[in-house]
Formats: sequence, structure tokens, C-alpha cells
Amino acid sequence: MSTPHISAEPGDFAPAVLMPGDPRRAERMAAQLMPDARKVTDVRGIGGYTGTYQGKPLSIMASGMGQPSLSIYATELYRFFGVERIIRVGTCGGLSPDVEPGDVVVAIGAHTDSSLNDALCPGIHFSATASWNLLKAAVDAAGDDASVKVAPVVSRDRFYDNPPEQVQRLAELGTLGVEMEAAALYGLAAQLHKEALAVLTVSDHLLDPSKDMSAEDRETKFQTALSLAVAAALS
Ligand code: HPA
Repeated sequence: MSTPHISAEPGDFAPAVLMPGDPRRAERMAAQLMPDARKVTDVRGIGGYTGTYQGKPLSIMASGMGQPSLSIYATELYRFFGVERIIRVGTCGGLSPDVEPGDVVVAIGAHTDSSLNDALCPGIHFSATASWNLLKAAVDAAGDDASVKVAPVVSRDRFYDNPPEQVQRLAELGTLGVEMEAAALYGLAAQLHKEALAVLTVSDHLLDPSKDMSAEDRETKFQTALSLAVAAALS
């Protein structure tokens, strides 16, 4: 069976999918976590990998960048391939003094400037929220690691040109990070009665661009987020 963007058979995906943005990161994650990983789809260079991690079935597939791209892959996985939970594991920009590059934000909710979730319940400003079981599993796995924060993020449609007054206000409202996918994932999970979580490494800071992490640091710090995402996926 194929969907427009996934060429795979029913049963090719595990019920739990880790979803980075970058297809090359998906490939590296699959090689790192699952010695028995096999590629189950490769439409448009978005590889999907399925194998086992500590004996449990797991899939990894990238979302591409932005809410429309993530929505396409997440919808097809949830609707047609038996996927029950998707854990986005990616990066965000820090937008509050309460967070630093290298921290990990487990996104309890996601504000957005996108209109995607407006269709869910016309007349209501939908709250895009994480699934409790996944959130709890990730937070439990973090233990007392003070670099892991549980907070809302904002999912913007634009990467560039964040209005400074918006950044400041969102920070005052307790928002820690800015990224481009979580709100759509949470909206889809609610719509389709599935589960979702986003675990985000802070890769740079909007208030202080000099704090940007090196590529090497990004990879190391990403491992913390990955371990929380895996704990949630297999909980
Ligand atoms: N916006 C701004 N900075 C970022 C983002 C983003 O979406 N992701 C990582 N750093």
C-alpha cells in the first residue's frame, strides 16, 4: 500500500515513531538505535526506518520543516500505517532568559501563529497540548536533570524575522522555545485520537545569538533529548 508521501506496506511501521525534522538525522538515529533497522520508505528522500530498540519495535521518520510538511507525514502515519504515537525530537530557539542552548524543552503545549488548528473547532482557539502519558514518561526519564524544562513552546510558520515584541511577550507568558512543528503535531493527535510529544534541544538563543552551539555540541546535547524521546516512545 502506498499513500501519496509514504511507500510502505501495512505493518512496516511500529506503533511508536520518533520524528526529527532532518532526514539525515533520521538515518543517523536509526543506525545508532536500531542495529536491525530497515528502510521502509524513501519518497522524496524522507526515509522511514523500522527495527527494534531493546527488543521493542520502533520506527524513525523525518517530518521535513514546518507544520504543513509535518502534517502530511504525521497524518499518513496515524491514518494509514497503524501509528499510535509520534514523538518529535528536534531543536528549538531559546526565547526566554530561563533557558540556555543545550537545555532540553519538553513541550507541554505549543502556541502557534499558524491557522492549521483553527479548522479543528471553528470559533475556538484550540490548545495544542502534549499527551500526558508521553509527557510523564519523558519527564520521569529526565530524573533531576535541571537542564530539562517542561514548558510551552511556540510553533511559528516563519523561521526568520521573529518580531522582538512577540518574543518578549511570549517569554513573559512562560514560553521557553520557538520551533516550527509541535502545534500541528499536537492538533493532529487530538483530531485523530492518537498520542504526541515534542522533545526539543535548545540549539540557539534569540536574545543572545552569540550563545549558538557548535555543530559538535548540538550533536552531543541532542542525545539527552533523544534518550527522553525514546523513553516516551517505548513507555
Ligand atoms: N526559529 C528560530 N530559531 C530556531 C528555530 C526556529 O524555528 N529552531 C531552532 N532555532
